[in-house]
Amino acid sequence: MNDKQHIALHAANKIENGMIVGLGTGSTANLFIEALAARVRNENLKITTVASSVISSIKAQAEGLALIAMEQISQIDCYVDGADEISPDLTLLKGRGADLVREKLLAKASTQFWVLADQSKFVARIGERFPIPIEVMPFAWQLVKQRLASIGGDAKLRYNANNDGFIITSYGSLVLDTVFDADSDIGKLNLLLSDTPGIVEHGIFHNLASAIITSQAGEIQEIWATAAK
Ligand code: A5P
Repeated sequence: MNDKQHIALHAANKIENGMIVGLGTGSTANLFIEALAARVRNENLKITTVASSVISSIKAQAEGLALIAMEQISQIDCYVDGADEISPDLTLLKGRGADLVREKLLAKASTQFWVLADQSKFVARIGERFPIPIEVMPFAWQLVKQRLASIGGDAKLRYNANNDGFIITSYGSLVLDTVFDADSDIGKLNLLLSDTPGIVEHGIFHNLASAIITSQAGEIQEIWATAAK
């Protein structure tokens, strides 16, 4: 079993009967969905799930998990997802996929948000390896790009996989992948981005993670946030 499988299995084993569980998106979240579905089949675990993306919804259905729509929830017990980067204060960078809005809604609506991450996801600062994804309303992208430039951001519209058009998110938004100065204060940037008209959502998940579940030399580690939501 590799690190990601080990982490996903550990998280799935922590889920309890009766929980509403948010399902993340990506390769680690997929392993969690598989491990959770195995418990439902083998242990008769009774849970309800809600998906953070079309792809995780399809995966959950294929695995036979009971799914409800986001419109049906007011709060969920636990959201379990991966991340693209994690900084020492447990701020996350997310959104390499095209479902940032749903991911942040579930992170905020969950009593606990567990982040499944192998050691490759730990960085000294958010934005170290990836630009910050910023979803924008299509008609607003140029105004937002100018605004980002005024606060030190170099924004580029994200191309689709064929490089012959721009990526459109599940909600019809464009994505500005944005590189900020290395010394930017991520807490302040989080607030500035959230306060910019035309931005639908962005990939900084600040003070949202309850715990990071990782693996170090084959040993599972849970790193709990002291000041989560
Ligand atoms: C999806 O938009 C991201 O936020 C994912 O959580 C992230 O890309 C993690 O994917 P992996 O588990 O495949 O690294």
